[in-house]
Amino acid sequence: MNYMLKNENAIYYECAYSCDNALYLRLGSEAFFITDGRYMIDAKTYVKNANVVIATDLYAQALKILKKTKIKKIIFDPKEWSVFGFERMRQKSKIDFIPQVDFSHKKRIIKSDEELKIMAKAAKLGAKAFKHLAKEFRKHGFGKDEYTLTHFAKGVLGDFGKYDLSFDPIVAINKNAAKPHAMPTVTTLKKNDLLLVDAGLKYKRYCSDRTRTVQADKHFMFSTHQKFKHKNIQKAYDTVLKAHDNAISKARSGMKAKKIDAFTRDIISKAGFEKYYVHSTGHGVGLDIHEMPYISTKSNTVIEDGMVFTIEPGIYLPDTFGIRIEDMVAMVDGKAKIL
Ligand code: GLY
Ligand code: MN
Repeated sequence: MNYMLKNENAIYYECAYSCDNALYLRLGSEAFFITDGRYMIDAKTYVKNANVVIATDLYAQALKILKKTKIKKIIFDPKEWSVFGFERMRQKSKIDFIPQVDFSHKKRIIKSDEELKIMAKAAKLGAKAFKHLAKEFRKHGFGKDEYTLTHFAKGVLGDFGKYDLSFDPIVAINKNAAKPHAMPTVTTLKKNDLLLVDAGLKYKRYCSDRTRTVQADKHFMFSTHQKFKHKNIQKAYDTVLKAHDNAISKARSGMKAKKIDAFTRDIISKAGFEKYYVHSTGHGVGLDIHEMPYISTKSNTVIEDGMVFTIEPGIYLPDTFGIRIEDMVAMVDGKAKIL
């Protein structure tokens, strides 16, 4: 098979190294990792199973290699390529470029044992970081606004430079939590506020992802057992937790992903919150924070052992409050195991 990759994580998956300026060619049994001189030493040290080629113009270099090997067809994922980069390749070559959307994500949908170990560790480190974060917020968080709390969260999650983050953490108070991907505001944290934190870190380039919603009292922890002073918040919280637990306990290999989505959605709908559940149940996680399989109402993907995805139901009442509880699971021996 012949294919060409431009995405950093897609390339890392093939040859154990990548950087922000690389192009990868797999041509039958031969592979080429093309980058520029800034990355020469690391590329030569870490790239596995590919020839490292240093060039100032990656596209010109790739075309040169393609010409030499005389291949006729090559697969690419249109989502990975800029129009500029793809046109550079296409205009100067007679090769048949075959689009295959999600080419690398499809290859990566089932994690190897080694990947599962790394992801379990990423999730464990993520959970530990949430514990530290609760302590920090209890001590120093009250009176601080969401900008400052987000900044704290970045430091704690990344262990102050040790780990990259999976994405910019979401720290949202009260009505700002009604936006599933809230941006920080000047709202400050007060005792007994509702506090939603969605964050993750990367371990050996693999992402973790976790969300907790809590009542920020004096002793709060980011556990799933929460008591809220407001009855309607408690009702929404208990519903989301029930939906989350239901999906995790009933998910099985061999099921379609949309059936797992229904395990959360049915509970939330029965409780009368259907229109306030504005996203899908979850998404695959790996080198990218959002990968296959997608756990949505429309997903016909058949779930298999070795897949890793999130279960993250939520209820969002505009201008009032939002709740989300998220864990990562791996399918092991036919069942979902929380990482
Ligand atoms: N936890 C962020 C997201 O899944 O989009
Ligand atoms: Mn997520």
